[in-house]
Formats: sequence, C-alpha cells, structure tokens
Amino acid sequence: MRVHGQHLRTVTLEGSVVVLIDQTLLPHQLAFCRCATPADTARAIRDMTVRGAGAIGATGALGVAQAALLAPDSGYFDQLRADAAVLRATRPTAQNLFAGVDTVLHAALAETTPDRSRAAAVAAAQAFADDDAACCAAIGAHGAPLIGERARVSTHCNAGWLAFVDWGSALSPIYAAARAGRRPFVWVDETRPRGQGASLTAWELAQEGVEHAIIADNATGHYMARGEIDLVIVGADRIAANGDVANKIGTYSSAVVAARHGIPFYVAAPTTTIDPATPTGADIPIEERSADELLWTQGVDADGVWRRVRTTPAGATGRNPAFDVTPASLIAGIITERGIVPATAAGIASVARRGPSAGPPA
Ligand code: MRU
Repeated sequence: MRVHGQHLRTVTLEGSVVVLIDQTLLPHQLAFCRCATPADTARAIRDMTVRGAGAIGATGALGVAQAALLAPDSGYFDQLRADAAVLRATRPTAQNLFAGVDTVLHAALAETTPDRSRAAAVAAAQAFADDDAACCAAIGAHGAPLIGERARVSTHCNAGWLAFVDWGSALSPIYAAARAGRRPFVWVDETRPRGQGASLTAWELAQEGVEHAIIADNATGHYMARGEIDLVIVGADRIAANGDVANKIGTYSSAVVAARHGIPFYVAAPTTTIDPATPTGADIPIEERSADELLWTQGVDADGVWRRVRTTPAGATGRNPAFDVTPASLIAGIITERGIVPATAAGIASVARRGPSAGPPA
C-alpha cells in the first residue's frame, strides 16, 4: 500500500535481515525494525512489533528462511528445526503463523544439503509472502461488490494491510470499492485494550483517503440500533472446520448485536487462516496477554512525547483475553481469495487448503 506516496510491505527479507514496520510506534511514527537473528524475529512477533494474522504468518515464514541462511553447515537441520520451534511458539491463536513457519520448514527439510535447503527456504518464504499479498488483493475483488456507493461499514481491530503483507483482509474490499470510485464510510472500533482500530486502522484509512470515525467499542451497538451501520466486515485469526471464527476480543459482541439488528456480519480472511484440524471454535487456543495492556495506556502527549500512564487503581488486577470466538451461525459469509463462502463445514471445506500448514513436519 502507499504511505506518503511510497509503496510499502509490512515485512520483507533483506539479505538475512527480517525488516518490519514497527507497529508499536504507529500512528505517531513510521519506523522499521531490523531483526538480525531468528531470536530477534521471534521477539518482534511476541512483543507485537509486528502483529496481525497475515503479517505474523509472513514474518514466521521469512524467519525460518532467515534461520536457514544463518545456520552453520554443522548441525544445520537441527538448528533449523529448533529456530522454527521458537518462531512457532511466539503466539498461539493465529493459524497463519503456523502456516508460514510450517510451509517454509517443510520446503527446507525436503532438501538434503544445507545449501540447497537454504535456497528452498528463501524461495518458499518469498512465495508465502507474495501469496499473502495476492490473496488479500483477491479478497478485495470478491468483497468489493458488498460495498454500496455510500455504504457504512463497521470494522473491529486492524485487519488492514498492516495485519498482512499488503492490502489486508477486512479492509481490502473497502479499498477496492474506494479505488473504484465509491465513497464508503467506516466505523472504526477503537479495539481495547491495545487500540489497533484507533491507532492502525484509522491511520491506514487516512492514508487511503477513506472517510471514517473512531468510536469506543461499546458505541457500536448504539449506531447499529440507530440504523447507521449497513454491514460489518472483520478479519480472522483462525477459522475452525465448522466455520466458527476467532478474532480480536470484542468481535463476538459486535456479531451478536449485528444479528439483533439484522445487519450482515462478514468475515474476510485468506484460506491460510483456516485450520481444518480444529473442529470448532471451542478448540481454538485463546491467547491471554498481560493485564498491564489493560491497566496502563500509552501514547504521545500534546508535545509529542511518549508517555505510559496507569488509568486504573494502583495494584488493580485484570484479565486480558486477546481473542474471542464468533459462532458460525452469526456469520453471513466468509470472504476468501477463492470467493465468498458460507460459514459452514461444507463452505469451509470447499476452500480450505491441504498441505504443510496442517501441522509441523514430523
Ligand atoms: O493481536 P493482534 O493485533 O495480532 O490481532 C490480530 C488481529 O489483527 C485481529 O484479530 C484481526 O482482526 C484479524 S488478523 C488480520
């Protein structure tokens, strides 16, 4: 996507360095994080320097390629497996991470010499990242017809291009519609506690010139009840075989209220987000992050100085689940690169991928 007229991807491999847009600094500063080792790359995923299902999937893929490039000939395959395991363990919910790591590891382990394995790993990682960008562009093309001339779309969290390599999932149909000359309006859920909607989605939409308003998460129902939301499009971190969807915490509440008001609720995701081995949403591991993300908040003050401040009583405790599960019955359709399919076992099976992303190589 264009930022200040320059075409950027969220994650790239430069030599053996994984280069990421540092999402913790947005919207105040556009800066890049250079990860020199697989341990650095794993840390960037874990601390959410890079976040979003597709972006961490591509980072995992490029991280395995980085591991292959840096592993010495002696003990090469053992080192590669160990580094891939560390990358795989960084975050538990987004299926794309496992798809990225496993796809590249599978390609690297199919070769018998370190040099051939390194070349295979780099090619597979670049292909995985390119595929993510291409899938998101196709999601935009399939989803754009849902966006009418002045459609008012609600979205939650950030499932835009920052959450992928390029284009995004939930925002891609909106970008496609806007580039086709329509004038959608986007209600941007703030997305407590980390504020990915307020900080990242709003920043992306402004870059693309799409009209929008940030609202508190608990204002979404209010605007639905007033008839000011025509449809909802959200992303997904994992889609179970039965069509249940794990996405950012607060998605489920939005889906319930949308159903109450007869508002179509779509999920947009590349098929790398589908996990055929997870039968239902109840089987999806839900990440629980530090309660400090809830108890403290951060940003810049009026002078542009970064501040981290506590907004809660000293010593207060909290709980911070990062995702929730929206049951398939509340979802109008899943917008994939292969078309819009119903959130049913048959719909999911009709587009699901087979291959290494179904699990780590033995
Ligand atoms: O915790 P995050 O920011 O990595 O969460 C992932 C997400 O960005 C959202 O859940 C998003 O809606 C789906 S991922 C494209």
